[in-house]
Amino acid sequence: IQLDPAVLADKVRDVPDYPKPGVVFKDVTPLLGDHVSFSTAVDWLVTRFGRGTVDKVVGIEARGFILAAPVAYHFGAGFVPARKTGKLPGETVSVTYELEYGHETLELHRDAIAPGERVLIVDDVLATGGTAAATVGLVEQLGGQVVGLGFLIELGFLEGAKRLTHDHVSLLTY
Ligand code: PRP
Ligand code: MG
Repeated sequence: IQLDPAVLADKVRDVPDYPKPGVVFKDVTPLLGDHVSFSTAVDWLVTRFGRGTVDKVVGIEARGFILAAPVAYHFGAGFVPARKTGKLPGETVSVTYELEYGHETLELHRDAIAPGERVLIVDDVLATGGTAAATVGLVEQLGGQVVGLGFLIELGFLEGAKRLTHDHVSLLTY
């Protein structure tokens, strides 16, 4: 796949002082809204791992869903939502993890992943890595085999990659 990261980086908008003073938010909505950039990003995630290598793609609520669903479709894999607490109606496994301020809980349906299934985890941003590491833990609780994690953006200065024990790819790193 021909890919010039600079072209995609142009579609990521810096929003100063959001969500709080001193933070520069990386807004990917312009990238998602551009048909060439969006399809390039999805294709890149798929080709980086290779069709046929994944049984399930887990998307992390909410922004991870946007990418994980088309990636799963493209792979010919199933889509599994990792949801915030209380949203899944069936029997779940859950994990609570620390955020910069407070904490978050994510859940998977217990029957969403069978033991031994190959799982790719997809989210929009790797920041501190807390969300991604927690999701790895959930998949592994169900016996899933995490083959990798894919992100649109990695905030390298937050060193989230250090919390990941599996292969991960990021389209754009800051
Ligand atoms: C953001 C982002 C990632 C996570 C990364 O999600 O979409 O999921 O933070 O942060 P971390 O690496 O420090 O854990 P957020 O919780 O803001 O919610 P959203 O996806 O529902 O917007
Ligand atoms: Mg998120």
